[in-house]
Amino acid sequence: MNKIVSLCKRRGFVFPGSEIYGGLANSWDYGPLGVELKNNIKWLWWKRFVHRRGDIVGIDSAIIMNPKVWEASGHLSAGFADELVECRHCHARYRADQIDLKDACPNCGTKGDFTEPRLFNLMFKTFIGPAEEKADIAYLRPETAQGMFVNFKNVLVTSRKTLPFGIAQIGKAFRNEITPGNFIFRTREFEQMEIEYFIPAPKNEKAWGGYFDQWRKEMFAWIKEIGLDYGKIHEMEVPAGERAHYSKRTIDFEYEFPFGVKELYGLAYRTDFDLKNHQEKSGQNLEYTDPQTGEKYIPHVIEPTWGVDRSILAVLCESYNEDAERIFLKLPPKLAPYKIAVFPLLANKPALVEFAEKIYNDLRRDFSVVWDDRGNIGKRYYAQDEIGTPWCVTFDFDSLEDKKVTVRDRDTMKQKRVAIKDLADYFKGKLSE
Ligand code: GAP
Repeated sequence: MNKIVSLCKRRGFVFPGSEIYGGLANSWDYGPLGVELKNNIKWLWWKRFVHRRGDIVGIDSAIIMNPKVWEASGHLSAGFADELVECRHCHARYRADQIDLKDACPNCGTKGDFTEPRLFNLMFKTFIGPAEEKADIAYLRPETAQGMFVNFKNVLVTSRKTLPFGIAQIGKAFRNEITPGNFIFRTREFEQMEIEYFIPAPKNEKAWGGYFDQWRKEMFAWIKEIGLDYGKIHEMEVPAGERAHYSKRTIDFEYEFPFGVKELYGLAYRTDFDLKNHQEKSGQNLEYTDPQTGEKYIPHVIEPTWGVDRSILAVLCESYNEDAERIFLKLPPKLAPYKIAVFPLLANKPALVEFAEKIYNDLRRDFSVVWDDRGNIGKRYYAQDEIGTPWCVTFDFDSLEDKKVTVRDRDTMKQKRVAIKDLADYFKGKLSE
């Protein structure tokens, strides 16, 4: 992990948050390369689940919602709280389920001197308007999901979808976690990609189980798409007592991170819990009318959910490689911040620079491309390998004659000559492999 964190900082993937003020514990900022990787993941997800399917539409809802939303959803109750204990000696705080209360405090070593566990709600509180009074309390959303539930009717009416159909959303969520940590794995501000997939009220167990299984397969297809090794994925059937308050079945998809096997994504059967409660609390009818039978009912929901930051971390862990000569990130090309780096063989030869620049500008119309003319070719390759650029293009003296350039592959380090006029098609082909 230390190597990954250091590479992220050194090369501009992830910086410590508010660093010039000494930082803010467990907050992180995505740098120029990190934001590219993040956007590539989000865009791939959106294309896969929204654009390529006729049964899912997207929304982008507000982060601060009417506080009644959180009463209805159950997030203001004990269901969305962790048990907190504090070491009486050093006042370090822990989640009661993450330490053995008879053991020594992991921070100061004092043996078994913890306060009684008390419930700590994870909602992030804020105030609307200038007065900090109780009436003005609002919350930052702890999941993007509720934006999709409260807009269920709006989306249904405007998109004219029939069941089953889904609403997708990508956005920030906030939780006052007791023990954030492990870099971007658990933070208080993070991003989710979620789908609420509305299904007919099931007449029997099998009716929702089929949709659940379909989504289980979709989760694996996504895991493959971003290049994670199936061998490092563990499915965990979450026992009833540990499931979120709204779930009748949950599978956690765990990944072998360097710090242990931990939750990457989740899949839950939320029943009609959310829509039913919103209907009750808002007094609005949130029923669906079956166009064939005229039957009215509240749809049920299968919810696949993906953490954006955990996707990034898993992809970085999976891609990190080092050998005697180099560090290289074996990122799937579609996720790489830059697809191509373009170099003139020598920076002080105007003819080489001019032609290389033309190639750089032409390729930039279709791809994310970086220019490098510093140091020697070996150093440039090293720098591009470290940030996962799949291909490097060098314009050399032969290129002036044969109108070809050298394309060097990040993973194999093999080089081949490609005609300049064919370059864009060559890379389009490579990216669709
Ligand atoms: N709407 C359902 C829901 O929010 P969750 O399992 O609590 O379910 C979904 O969260 C995903 O969000 C997790 O699988 C994880 O990828 C990500 N996530 C949750 N808490 C996080 C945190 N504190 N930091 C980073 N990612 C987090």
